[in-house]
Amino acid sequence: MSNSRLFLYTLCGVIFCISFIGMIIYGYKTFFIETKKVTSEDYQYHFALIAEEADNAYWRMIEKGAKKAAAEHDIYLEYLAPTRADNDNLLKLLDRMISAKVDGIIVQGVEGERFVDLVHKGVERGIPIITVDTDVPESERKAYVGTDNFQAGKLAGKALIKKTSGKQHVGVVLGRFNAINQKLRLQGFQEVINEHSRIHIVAMKESNISSIGAAQAAYDLLKEFPSINTFVGMSALDGIGITDGIQEIAPDRNFTIIAFDLIPETLALIRDGKINATVAQYPERMGTKAVNVLIELQEHDLLDNEKYTGTKVIEKGDLRSRGEQK
Ligand code: BGC
Repeated sequence: MSNSRLFLYTLCGVIFCISFIGMIIYGYKTFFIETKKVTSEDYQYHFALIAEEADNAYWRMIEKGAKKAAAEHDIYLEYLAPTRADNDNLLKLLDRMISAKVDGIIVQGVEGERFVDLVHKGVERGIPIITVDTDVPESERKAYVGTDNFQAGKLAGKALIKKTSGKQHVGVVLGRFNAINQKLRLQGFQEVINEHSRIHIVAMKESNISSIGAAQAAYDLLKEFPSINTFVGMSALDGIGITDGIQEIAPDRNFTIIAFDLIPETLALIRDGKINATVAQYPERMGTKAVNVLIELQEHDLLDNEKYTGTKVIEKGDLRSRGEQK
């Protein structure tokens, strides 16, 4: 074999090996999957909880509630999620859990036909699937456990009305434009503020459900529309990010900020008076309830399949008296 041919073969071999290793590393990083191995004999049922994003504080609370209920009922609960929010990856995980023939699946509802088709596939194979946090009522999901997102949006609107007087030029930060729960919250919010001519939405941006994304969104909104004097953040890390973004571009101005959820950083910002109010959801309760509903579904179908877990507006005054829950 000539030297140049040998060199070519070696080069191809090296490129192949690098691509192969890269593929394995990429595949590992794209999905978050627990590695703990269990055998089915150890547990009564094996359930999967598929979250929007693995290390999101809000989803970790849902996981906590779900694991608590699972521990009480001899259930192996697997927590899975894309590393960063991504519908395509979430749907792949859902498909994989259906193929793995788990006993039940709790999943965030996402937009589009593929979700509806996958739920149909799961149900055909006898796997009960329920939605948590975000519903897709047109799918064959057996139940929904979570917030009434339209009503939650209305609460944000009412909080804004209560907390302000005079003209309000609102910048809205949404988690993701194509998330069903964000769209419903926005609709509820708009329905309430449309009754008040002093309040109008100036512009909206998405945070991609990260606080850095929300900081960037708030920064960009203020740069483009300096008239904004109020912000509303529609997903759990948006309020926190908005305060950071404002700090960067307009540290001396006063803004009204209405947030969503009650994770520890939001709580601290409410205490400091930087966030004026938040629409609290009850993620731990969602996790616990979802597992209990799946247990029930092992025996029989449910008649009442919309299980709302409640929402509440929390402001500084509410925190002094009692420690608000997760
Ligand atoms: C939403 C979740 C979302 C989370 C992001 C919550 O308010 O209900 O759908 O994943 O915020 O941080």
